[in-house]
Amino acid sequence: MDDTKKIMLSGIQPSGDLHLGNYLGAIKNWADRVEEFDCYYFMADLHTITVRQNPADLRRRSLEQLAQYIACGLDPEKNTLFFQSHVPAHAQLGWVLDCYTMFGELSRMTQFKDKSAKHKDNINAGLFTYPALMAADILLYQPDYVPVGEDQKQHVELTRDVAQRFNGIYGPVFKIPEPYIPKAGARIMGLTVPGSKMSKSIPEGCVFLMEKPEDIQRKFRRAVTDSDTERCVRYDPVAKPGVSNLMNIYSAITGRTFEAIEAEFDGQGYGAFKPKVGEAVIECLRPIREEATRILKDKGYLEGVYRAGAEKASRVANKTLRKVYKKVGFVQP
Ligand code: TYM
Repeated sequence: MDDTKKIMLSGIQPSGDLHLGNYLGAIKNWADRVEEFDCYYFMADLHTITVRQNPADLRRRSLEQLAQYIACGLDPEKNTLFFQSHVPAHAQLGWVLDCYTMFGELSRMTQFKDKSAKHKDNINAGLFTYPALMAADILLYQPDYVPVGEDQKQHVELTRDVAQRFNGIYGPVFKIPEPYIPKAGARIMGLTVPGSKMSKSIPEGCVFLMEKPEDIQRKFRRAVTDSDTERCVRYDPVAKPGVSNLMNIYSAITGRTFEAIEAEFDGQGYGAFKPKVGEAVIECLRPIREEATRILKDKGYLEGVYRAGAEKASRVANKTLRKVYKKVGFVQP
């Protein structure tokens, strides 16, 4: 580890194929910061089993996710890439932090409320204590920043509260991390239901990183716009949530401001705007898809990447875990 650099860490659950929300809300931001930070990115596979998974699909998607991380620009020579389940310290610190996280705090988590409503037949203890494991994922690496989309902010805030509580009892064990949320792309909404965030659970409104260009374009052409009479491209998330979401996507990809986008499409209707956003997304994802497909064929290379990643991550994580075990009073092995 380069001790002079600040640390960044984040993860994504391989519970579904990576989508445009994951890319614009999280990964794109990660790849941009590698020279400045010591970076740790993982596949949050332990988290996925809070919801029932098909084992073969989970295994396949986990490897695909690693290939896609690399294809998105996360160079394994410069970033530590690993599977969460390969570093036992996550589960170990997770247990400790379960004992420092309050029932009331966990009950307030939006993701728990959403997922327990969606999976009424499987409201398991792991789903409830998930944020304590996420706190462990983060605090093990003593990061300065946790780059996530808007929906994960609440979990990072809980992580800060738990870390402060622990430090308050035992002294400064954990660094208090900051969420790092992008200005554009932090909350990409579904293309068919602009009122809810883009997610794999509504596939028609979700654009996947590996999707074929013609399918992406079809989804954008069918994107729900707004029933206002104005029919012009203007940013107004309340009155025009559909158009504003497309503008947000276009802005996150091209780097253009909303004013510049309004000017670009001045006098043109939604019919011209939607395929233009589709094209920008297709061109942005094309090299990622091609590179991920190529990398995925080389299983030996991927194995080398995740083994080296787990080895480095374990070294860093175990250092924090040893300190925690000592502080709480466990006998040194
Ligand atoms: P997950 O797997 O649901 O999502 C991964 C990342 O993608 C972002 N994201 C979005 N951003 C913008 N618009 C969207 N529609 C959208 N959908 C998803 C999320 O905010 C997230 O940054 N609990 C985490 C995974 C996790 C984690 C961690 C993250 C486990 N341990 C430690 C950071 C640090 C989760 O379920 O994200």
